[in-house]
Parts: sequence; C-alpha cells; structure tokens
Amino acid sequence: MECFQRVFVGNGRSLVWPNARCARYLSQESNIEKHKPKTGILLLNMGGPQTVNDVPDYLLRIMTDRNLIQLPMQRFLGPYIAKKRTAEVQKKYEEIGGGSPILKWTQKQGNGLVERLDTASPSTAPHKYYVAFRYANPLTDETMRQIEKDQLDHLVVFSQYPQFSCATSGSSFDAIYHYFRKRQVPANMKWTVIDRWPTHSLLCQCIADRIKTELNFFPVEEQKDVVLLFSAHSLPLKAVKRGDSYPYEVGATVQAVMETMKYSNPYAITWQSKVGPVPWLEPATEDAIKGFHKRGLKNFILVPIAFTNEHIETLHELDIEYGKDLVKELGGKITIRRAAAPNDHKLFLDCLADIVETAVKADERVTNKFLSRCPKCTNRSCQPYKSFFAKVCQK
Ligand code: FES
Repeated sequence: MECFQRVFVGNGRSLVWPNARCARYLSQESNIEKHKPKTGILLLNMGGPQTVNDVPDYLLRIMTDRNLIQLPMQRFLGPYIAKKRTAEVQKKYEEIGGGSPILKWTQKQGNGLVERLDTASPSTAPHKYYVAFRYANPLTDETMRQIEKDQLDHLVVFSQYPQFSCATSGSSFDAIYHYFRKRQVPANMKWTVIDRWPTHSLLCQCIADRIKTELNFFPVEEQKDVVLLFSAHSLPLKAVKRGDSYPYEVGATVQAVMETMKYSNPYAITWQSKVGPVPWLEPATEDAIKGFHKRGLKNFILVPIAFTNEHIETLHELDIEYGKDLVKELGGKITIRRAAAPNDHKLFLDCLADIVETAVKADERVTNKFLSRCPKCTNRSCQPYKSFFAKVCQK
C-alpha cells in the first residue's frame, strides 16, 4: 500500500496526502509521538569558541553584553576592545588545543542527565536536553527556536552556574527574555527555573572527590598540609557593592565542601581572571600563591569552584599560567596541582539529575530570590526579565 496518495481538491488542483491506512505511515507517526520529548532541560552557560576562528565573534558578544561589562560608549568601545584582544585570546586557545571543550562536556552532562531522568521519572519522559550558550554556539536564539518546534509540555531552565551572579547567570536568563520580547511564548508549555544550587550535597561530594584524587599525588606525610586554593572567576567590586550574591554563594560552596572533607586541609578562596584597571574581588589566585610561598608553603591544589567544565580559565590560566609559568618564576621549588572540574564525574551527573527531578516533583517553578533584585541594582534590563519569568512560571 502506498503511504502517500494524490487527493483532488477541486479546480483541477491536487495535494499529496498521507494515506491514513498505510501501516508504515501509522507506525512512523506513533514513533514520532513516542519519541517526542515531553520535558526539556535547557542548560545555560557562557560557552566558549570551538575553534580559534570563532574567537572574534565570541569576544564581541562578551564586550557588548551590558549585563557582564559596563563600558562608556560600549557600542563603540566594546567592539574596539574585542578586536584588540582577539590575537592574544586566539593564542591562548591554540595553546589548549585549538578551542574550548565546554560544549563537549555540556553534551556529556546533558546525555547523563537525560539518561538518569528517563529512568527515575518515567511520567515526565522522554526528556531532552538543550544547550544555550550566551557567547558561543549554540546561542540562545537558535536553541529557543528548536524548543518552540519541539512543542514541549515542560521546560526546565537550568543555569549551569552553581552560584548566581547577575553578570553571568542573569545575562543568560535575560537572553531568553529578549528572544521572546517580540514573540508569542509557546502555549501550554510549563516553565521551571533553576537559578542556583551552590551547596548541593552531591556537587560538594564531587568536588571533594576531585580534591582527594589530587591529594594522593603528594607524599602521605605532606598531604594534610597541602593548601587548597578554591579559585573562582573574580567580579568587579562595583557589582559586589550593588549586592550581587555571587561572592557569598561561592563562600557557601567552599564551606560545604570543606565540611564534607572535615576541614582536613588549610584552604582559602581566591579570585582569578580579572581584566581591566577597576578593582575586583581579591586576593587574586596568583597573589595568594605568592603570599603563601613567601611564608614557606610549597604544596598547593587549585580547585575550580565556580566552573563545572574545563575551559580556558582552568586549562590555560590555572594549568599553564600558574601550574607551569608561575612555578618556574618561583624557582621550581613548589608543587601546584589542579583538581579537575566536575565534568562528567558520576556524582556530578547524579547531582544534575537530582536537582531537576526534585524541582519537577516539588513543582517548584521559580524562587522569590530569583525574582527579586539586588539591593542597589541600577541595571534597567533586570526587572523586565524577572517579570517575564514571574509571568511564564505563573508566580
Ligand atoms: Fe542584580 Fe540587577 S544587578 S538584579
């Protein structure tokens, strides 16, 4: 039997129409229905250029994002700085293998997450993960178009920054609002927002496990004196003064990890990746290493505490600039090791699945913390995106 037939619709015109009695057509339909995703999990992150050729666009998006950076005459100055920094940043990506591995790790995490959710929660299956990066492909707009096409029952918008900052997580949520500013929000699609999870026990256990792996490389008698430097991306003090919750949420993660480890080692929070002349959170990771080194300490483990994937800040800044260049500068008499990011650690995949499953089961759509603004917020784009999510989450 033919799966398609010609149907005459009058005036000599005809259409090719599926033959409803064709078994092949019917089974294809039911297959589509069976595999149509019911629940989507949208993983938000900053992203990274996959090749050195993607660096110019990536930098341009960063330098023109006013949630992340506020410059005078940003429309002109942003592209100018992006262009000026391109060659230097391309060189760094070349040194770590030619591109950012963020997408690769995010896909592994997405697959592990969906696999776990399909088993743990058949009533909300099939689950499908989506990736929306803020500054590199796949970008928010492209992913949201796919989500619209898939006609989901439920979308879980899941920030992959464990600690919330208006500059990073906030910017990703704002990008979703911008996509829908002139579009209809998909009818009948339920929304859930997961905006922060700094002290989730499985995240802390995973980080503790990554640290223990590195401790084992030191002689047993030296292990308890190894200094753990929890390194997070720094933030301009201007943002801290506005009341951005990021620094204290990073502190909460470190506290919870050290509690898991029963305060086994000396430790400190340090801040990396500062750019420009304005004051940022301190001590800088590099300065902290130098300071401890002056006091005679020689064994360190750098722990990325706010990055869940390897990327340029771990692979270049921590591994090359501190792990190799700084060691050389300090005369080679110190050891700097680095704990791996959570990446595809089993505990981390369990953590992601637990966060989504718990939020979906509890029907926690959005928190009041997410919907409220920093005490001294002056960013005009914050209220509109928060109002958008209040509306779609029906809070
Ligand atoms: Fe934090 Fe606006 S800067 S809500």
